[in-house]
Amino acid sequence: MRFSGKRAVVTGGASGIGRATALRLAEEGAEVWIGDIDEAAGREIAETSNGKIHFQRCDVTNADDIRSLIEAPDAAGGLDVLFNNAGAGGAPEKIDEIAPDDWDRTQNLLLRSVALGIRYAAPIMAKRGKGAIVNTSSVSALGTGYAPIAYSTAKAGVLHLSKLAAADLAKSNVRVNAVIPGFITTNIFTRHLDVAEDKRAAANEVIAQVAAKAQPVARAGRPEDIAAAVTFLLSDDAGFITGTHLVVDGGITIGTRQSWDPEQPGLFAALEAF
Ligand SMILES: NC(=O)c1ccc[n+]([C@@H]2O[C@H](COP(=O)([O-])OP(=O)(O)OC[C@H]3O[C@@H](n4cnc5c(N)ncnc54)[C@H](O)[C@@H]3O)[C@@H](O)[C@H]2O)c1
Repeated sequence: MRFSGKRAVVTGGASGIGRATALRLAEEGAEVWIGDIDEAAGREIAETSNGKIHFQRCDVTNADDIRSLIEAPDAAGGLDVLFNNAGAGGAPEKIDEIAPDDWDRTQNLLLRSVALGIRYAAPIMAKRGKGAIVNTSSVSALGTGYAPIAYSTAKAGVLHLSKLAAADLAKSNVRVNAVIPGFITTNIFTRHLDVAEDKRAAANEVIAQVAAKAQPVARAGRPEDIAAAVTFLLSDDAGFITGTHLVVDGGITIGTRQSWDPEQPGLFAALEAF
């Protein structure tokens, strides 16, 4: 019960990583406000939470929506912890094809939203003399091959923003960190590819099979894996941790596949006959 008596805000809380984190926070005693554009899913989570989770419609590309979500716990005493997490795949084009507006839309959704979340939470937390913030980055912030360029650039921005904000907010006793999920089985992929509603379950099966073999840990990454790391970073257990990130990726960023997959022999095995 690390969050007993605390109030939390989670963006993108209607699905996947945000949903799992909101449920875990509530399970550990927090009163949680989730913001999302998916009203049906958000309301359903709130309605089945025994009053522990509230839903508020929030489009994180809209500054007023973010401010209003972050101020929602004020009537109950103010915000303790914030998870800036909402997101989607963004523009898929490569750098030699992308249109200016598509670039901007992706940065607004994934990077500006996080900056504004911190912006509006900071004075509230400063007044209370403490607080903790976690922002969702991605393994795509660390290298190529994981996601489109506009998305990956925004996620790299989230990583650096988390460090700089941690420095700015140290004076207020507010900690800021990032979480770096690897390949996690959520709806983000079927949404990005616009898979029809009635085909999503089948597509998610395929995604889970691919995800189980994508990294050294021999199973698919789950939203709960990220929720466990995020709640740790938001809790007092992480009281001496700020301005850094936690990679939760089943080892996907370790290095070349041949180093852990015996079926991918690599150069020296291929040259054995010589
Ligand atoms: N799933 C992965 O493999 C993975 C890996 C690295 C990072 N991430 C990041 O994790 C975060 C959560 O994604 P997920 O995998 O749980 O996907 P998801 O699709 O299951 O959940 C994302 C949620 O964000 C909401 N959302 C989208 N646009 C929004 C907006 N403008 N305003 C408010 N809410 C909005 C969606 O409605 C959805 O409920 C994202 O930032 C994503 O980029 C995911």
